Formats: sequence, structure tokens, C-alpha cells
Amino acid sequence: MIPHSRPTLTEQDAQRVAAVVRAGHVAQGAQVAAFEREVAARLHAEAAAAVSSGSAALELALRALGVGAGDEVVIPTYVCDALYHAVTRVGAVPALADACPETLSVESQEVKRRLSRRTRCVIVPHAFGLAAGLASFDGLGIPIVEDCAQAIGATDDGRPAGSRGRLAVLSFYATKMFTTGEGGMVTGPVELIDRVRDLRDYDEREDLAPRFNYKMTDLHAALGRSQLERLDSFIARRREIAARFRSRLAGRPRGLPPDARGGRHVYLRFIVDAARPVGPVIDALAARGVTARRPVFRPIHRALGRAGYETADRLWAERLSLPCYPGLTDAEVDAVAAALCEALGA
Ligand SMILES: Cc1ncc(COP(=O)(O)O)c(C=O)c1O
Repeated sequence: MIPHSRPTLTEQDAQRVAAVVRAGHVAQGAQVAAFEREVAARLHAEAAAAVSSGSAALELALRALGVGAGDEVVIPTYVCDALYHAVTRVGAVPALADACPETLSVESQEVKRRLSRRTRCVIVPHAFGLAAGLASFDGLGIPIVEDCAQAIGATDDGRPAGSRGRLAVLSFYATKMFTTGEGGMVTGPVELIDRVRDLRDYDEREDLAPRFNYKMTDLHAALGRSQLERLDSFIARRREIAARFRSRLAGRPRGLPPDARGGRHVYLRFIVDAARPVGPVIDALAARGVTARRPVFRPIHRALGRAGYETADRLWAERLSLPCYPGLTDAEVDAVAAALCEALGA
């Protein structure tokens, strides 16, 4: 069975983590500090604060921006539930935006329609490794949190994805661009990142303002640093795989992801438009040894019983996420493509 996702782990990764164990300092320390500096440099950010997950990063980014009870935050409906949970955890109300069929994220016009007097922030994901086109959000007048959980290393309008928003959040979960097992980070200007640092740790503070234990450990950071060294090779291989899929699938499923466009996209996933209900296609692929998924488990509006998000409904019904990760061999890519063509009867 070809899995949908698989981290790229090596003996070097194991040795870096083992070295931290041998050194005896495993909690947040020098490895975390170095990891933060390296990621900040990569994203052209002033500063970075490592945390325990992308979910924690989202929550602390919102808190650092002062988002709280009575505020609204615009988020896509066609997205991981982590965004909804982060917004509600800080006491704010998610305002759901419909999906964009090209970027699989949100369009600025649609976000504008969802703004109200209470909107304090907009979260814009770079979805599935596709740069979202942040320049089109310039002039919105509301702080943007760039969610780079699925697109570390992408380039958006000539700049690293994550460098245009007020803050950016990252995830290093096992299925992401590179991994620490679980982990996340917030990047941005020093004054906001200092707030995230304050919030992630409750220990030895004079006052009792709400604080958390959302810290990353040096064990995780050592793995992250080792993985980050190889991020460019991971991205290069993902782009090769995407190009191979594009050539093997040319003209078969209707919509394929855009080409890398001068290094914009990093293809965390390879998402195709099956132009038909994907449930039976997923079953047919499984019967042929390929694990495929819906890119989003379920749009948020559906869990809330809301209607009026036609594009997200269509994407949910008909888009398919194929295995796409550096460890996939060319033979496996060809097998996935052939299985899809058979499953679609193309
Ligand atoms: C776009 C997006 N943001 C945030 C998260 C949350 O990250 P984590 O799983 O590290 O909490 C995810 C998780 O998959 C995600 O896809």
C-alpha cells in the first residue's frame, strides 16, 4: 500500500536527537533558540518563537495580536479545524469565507465580504503547498496571519511565504514540509514575538495573566534543525514529483495543480480535480494499493450546519489528494498516476 504521507527521516536525524539526549538538556534551551534563529532567517522574519504545535502557534499569534472575546476572525471554511479551534479558544468568533478554486485558500474579495466592524484579524493559509498570493490582500486594513503550516519554503510574489503578514504560523507535524514530530512556530516582528514567548511559558511570572505551557523541547528542535538543513532538497524532490504527476496525468483528471511558477509552490500535497464524487475514487485507488484522501476532512461550515459555501462544497466533493512526499520513488509516482487513470476510467 502506498501511504498518503510519510516523513523523510534519516540516520542524521536520529543522531542529532540522540546527541541532545546524551548532553542531558532536553527541555527548551539552546537547540530551540538556534532553531528559532534559523527559521526566522529562512522566512526573512525579525524573530521567531517555537511552540508545541501549529495549533498553539495559531492561538498565541491571535493572543499576541490582542484578539479576544467579542472579536471576529475571518478564516476559510475549507481548511483544517485547527483554525476554528484557535479562534474559539481565544473567545473570538470565526467568520467563515468560501474557498478559492485556484489557490484552495481564500480570495481577498471574498474576505472583504466577510469583514465587519468587529473583525480583528484574517488568517490566510498557503494551502497544500500553494502560495496564496498575499499581495492581493494589501490594503485590507486588518492584520493578516499567514498560515504557512502547509507551505514552508514557498515563495509568494517574490518573497518567502510568511514574510508579508503581520505574523506567520508554522507547523512541524509529521506530515508537513519538514517535521519535529509535533511542533510549531510563530514568526514576525520582535515586539509581537516577545508576547508569544511570554505566553508560551507560565513559570516564574509575578502576575497571573493567562499563560500556557506551549513550549517546544530541545529534542524536537534538534530534529527540526536537522530536517531544516534538508528542506531545499525536500522541496526540489516535491517539485520533481509534481512535474512527473503533471506529465503522467496530462489531460486526464480535469484540474491539476499549477506548475511551480518560478519556485512559488512546494506541493505539500498533489491535489487533482476528479470532477466527480471522490468517495468511490478513493475506494478504487485503495483497491489498487494507493491511499488517497480528501484534502480537507470536512469544511467547517458543514460541521456547523451552515449553507452558502458552494465552492468549498464542490472542492470537498470532487478534489482528491494524492501521495506526494520526498520519499516517494518515481516508480511509485507512476503507479499512483496509473491507478488514478484506471480509477477514473481515463
Ligand atoms: C493550515 C493548517 N494550519 C494549522 C494546522 C495545525 O497544526 P498542528 O497539527 O501542528 O497543530 C494545520 C494542521 O494540519 C493546518 O493544516
